[in-house]
Amino acid sequence: MNNIRNFCIIAHIDHGKSTLADRLLEYTHTIDSKDMQDQVLDSMDLERERGITIKSHAIQMNYEYQGENYTLNLIDTPGHVDFSYEVSRSIAACEGALLVVDATQGIQAQTISNVYMAIEHDLAIIPVINKIDMESAMPDEVEDQIVDLLGCRRDEILRASGKTGEGVAEILKAIIEKIPAPGGDPDAPLQALIFDSVFNPFRGIIAYYKVVNGSIGKNDHVKFVATGREYDADEVGVLKLGMMPKDRIYCGDVGYIISGIKTSKEVKVGDTITHVERPCDKPISGFREVKPMVFAGVYPIESDDFENLRASLEKLQLNDASLTFQPESSVALGFGFRCGFLGLLHMEIVQERLEREFNMEVITTVPNVSYHVFDKKGNMKEVHNPSGLPDPALIEHIEEPFIRASIITNTAYIGPIMTLCLGKRGVLIKQEYVSGDRVELIFDLPLGEIVIDFYDKLKSVSKGYASFDYHMLDFRPSKLVKLDILLNGEPVDALSTLTHFDNAQSLGRRMCEKLKELIPRQQFDIAIQAAIGSKVIARETVKAVRKDVTAKCYGGDISRKRKLLEKQKEGKKRMKQIGNVEVPQKAFLAVLKLD
Ligand code: GTP
Repeated sequence: MNNIRNFCIIAHIDHGKSTLADRLLEYTHTIDSKDMQDQVLDSMDLERERGITIKSHAIQMNYEYQGENYTLNLIDTPGHVDFSYEVSRSIAACEGALLVVDATQGIQAQTISNVYMAIEHDLAIIPVINKIDMESAMPDEVEDQIVDLLGCRRDEILRASGKTGEGVAEILKAIIEKIPAPGGDPDAPLQALIFDSVFNPFRGIIAYYKVVNGSIGKNDHVKFVATGREYDADEVGVLKLGMMPKDRIYCGDVGYIISGIKTSKEVKVGDTITHVERPCDKPISGFREVKPMVFAGVYPIESDDFENLRASLEKLQLNDASLTFQPESSVALGFGFRCGFLGLLHMEIVQERLEREFNMEVITTVPNVSYHVFDKKGNMKEVHNPSGLPDPALIEHIEEPFIRASIITNTAYIGPIMTLCLGKRGVLIKQEYVSGDRVELIFDLPLGEIVIDFYDKLKSVSKGYASFDYHMLDFRPSKLVKLDILLNGEPVDALSTLTHFDNAQSLGRRMCEKLKELIPRQQFDIAIQAAIGSKVIARETVKAVRKDVTAKCYGGDISRKRKLLEKQKEGKKRMKQIGNVEVPQKAFLAVLKLD
């Protein structure tokens, strides 16, 4: 146990976490440099392309230092705000963290939130300035920022390059010398903290854990405390590049368990594994059920594909327990599913995987958050869909989720960012200088305003010089109304949104304008209206036209004509019929594209 070091790498997106991890694996000969694939820890294709580590993994390295053999467990942490609970459990499994900061970028919002999390868990923090090989590196300035943030000494800050491998030996030395060995009592009843799980098509769900007390052996009869389920450990082992079975995983170490678990829901990140015969008194603290906060309807373009879509979502869920779905139907879109996601990025990932891995063409409706709707008797109902809102006469009040956001930017952009956040009903909590001309703005904001188009707007008003991170705060009462859109008098349920009363008028007007741009002219006039209840608050008209695509091909060329008609048919596939109006798919996301 004295020779074990458990650590993670915390960094803002793209600051070089994966690249540095590759170098550590190479240097410790965990993998051969000739088999070295860039960023081996990011195994999914999609992750590789997006450069985001979506699912945390762990890998064990062996390293000889001053005549002693050490076991180094690197626990990978997901790099995006949507997955912050998973990050917190990975951090809880470690005794130390490498804090990697890009020498050209300096400290960003996510660096700070991860550092706070690491400090909260009493981790030894080893600051590393990365990418010092780059011409635009400003290591001295970044060093100032790190000293301000951590209150550490300058000579404690390492400098490295994941590209050239410079500084990697010093990092390994610091890991061994500065990070404490895990504590824990090897003879106490088993307590193992689950920090991740993966689905394997041959072996079922594999859970990853850190043994906090006691030990876990092959064939042990174990229980997962939060779910109450019992299993026999068919196999336990450690994670090298692949799985390496062992007879027993001892106190302080990191390992996996295979026990015939069929569904990802049985393995909850943060849960405790213990023995059935000799259970621990209480589970490891900090367990929390992760609840989806963002919801959207996902509909097949071809209605025949409904069952295929269900099968695809079920398969995705094997890997991703935080994805939820249940069937729903929409007058406009037919039969589909209301899916729950952790956040916007999570939603995009699911949508992309459906298209890419399952060949499913889907329409996703405008996302909304989870609302708490109270009736006059004080009963609360969670509503995940504007169309599920009860009769307004029965509603006492509605509460919506709020987040606390941290935005780090250059002082030059404070003005536009303030305007943006205040326009999104944000409340400024704090404004603080990080160092030099960099400032941190803390806002409380309704999550419902963030899910619509906040990221893109923030990027554009700050010319890309703002980083953003958030965590959930609470539910607060809000004056929310349901805004409906009608096409030729027919309400289009998939276009309904819940919005703040003060914004409804302007949102309605802008939605109508946008839809006018997006809905092609048809053989009759189309009235587009926005309404709250029975009160119409905005209106636009798409004028009639007789669209004859073949009109341009004078006479002869039949094959060209046919091609054009085919093309038009293809275009139609992406359309949905609402009453007598054909609506293109992108219109259902109109609200996301408002100016
Ligand atoms: P996420 O997984 O998205 O959080 O990113 P990451 O922090 O793992 O960053 P990653 O390792 O993917 O590196 C981001 C980019 O920076 C890649 O294009 C790397 O090739 C590049 N990069 C990483 N480290 C260095 C370095 O030391 N020097 C230079 N020049 N480039 C680097």
